[in-house]
Amino acid sequence: MVDVESFVADAREEIAAEIGAGEAIIALSGGVDSSTAAALAYDAVGDQLTPVYVDTGLMRKGETEQIRETFAYMDSLRVIDAQERFLDALEGVTDPEAKRHAIGEQFIREFETVAREVGADHLVQGTIYPDRIESEGTIKSHHNVGGLPERIDFEGIVEPMRDLYKDEVREVARHLDLDALVAERMPFPGPGLAVRIIGEVTDEKLAVAREATHVVEDELDEYDPWQAFAAVLGKATGVKGDNRVHGWVVAVRSVESRDGMTARAQEIDWETLQRIQSRITGSHDAVARVVYDVTHKPPATIEYE
Ligand code: XMP
Repeated sequence: MVDVESFVADAREEIAAEIGAGEAIIALSGGVDSSTAAALAYDAVGDQLTPVYVDTGLMRKGETEQIRETFAYMDSLRVIDAQERFLDALEGVTDPEAKRHAIGEQFIREFETVAREVGADHLVQGTIYPDRIESEGTIKSHHNVGGLPERIDFEGIVEPMRDLYKDEVREVARHLDLDALVAERMPFPGPGLAVRIIGEVTDEKLAVAREATHVVEDELDEYDPWQAFAAVLGKATGVKGDNRVHGWVVAVRSVESRDGMTARAQEIDWETLQRIQSRITGSHDAVARVVYDVTHKPPATIEYE
């Protein structure tokens, strides 16, 4: 991207030309990519675009409320409360790819319903360059709404940021005056906290992952990580009060990266790590232990599943 101003002007023109007099839909996750694509497209075609935010129940603390506020200016915004449907779809599912598949499938169902309701003939997506590269290999099934085009016969798929890297998307977001929380927001995977929970997703593990991720984001903000979060691994023995407990092991991960394709684990000072440990073990009775993940990508991935 040579110049952000001309990129934005060209993108708006291209979007308006592609959608024409049609109806478009976009899956708005609140992440910087889909938010920026939605803002660009809404500027270009207004309420001909229906941005759809699905509350999967797999989001971080306060996220749905924040998204509702940030995008309140879009009259056509739809917020779908699908928490129960997602948890039902995930019940008993333990295999990582099966989890991603179940979530992707439920996403598609939710969007399909709205897309048919509004008679959408165009799909806008916040696909960026690294997404295209990773999808070409089979590193991991990037769910988002990848399967939607096969289910609905859209006249066009609009991907205004297909050649941009993440830092360029952030530049565009800042240029569009998107809420600083969105523009500077860490990437958050489409399947949400589910890929930060090993094995079955349950209410308890979700509550632990949500609160622990909140603590980690809060404490590590000053390290300016690409992503910092917590994951729920499995159970191990601990002592709480006078009792031995069999509680969750929470992993803390903080990485720097340019585009998520490779990453380096960050060096965090001991005092901060201890404060994180104390806040997380104190946040939930069922947490017994906190560990710090020192693995780069490769060989690990950034997320856990
Ligand atoms: P991994 O875990 O593969 O992640 O090293 C690389 C980057 O991609 C994000 N990620 C996803 N983003 N849908 C997304 O939109 C997904 O299914 C997905 N899986 C991983 C991850 O958070 C990291 O930034």
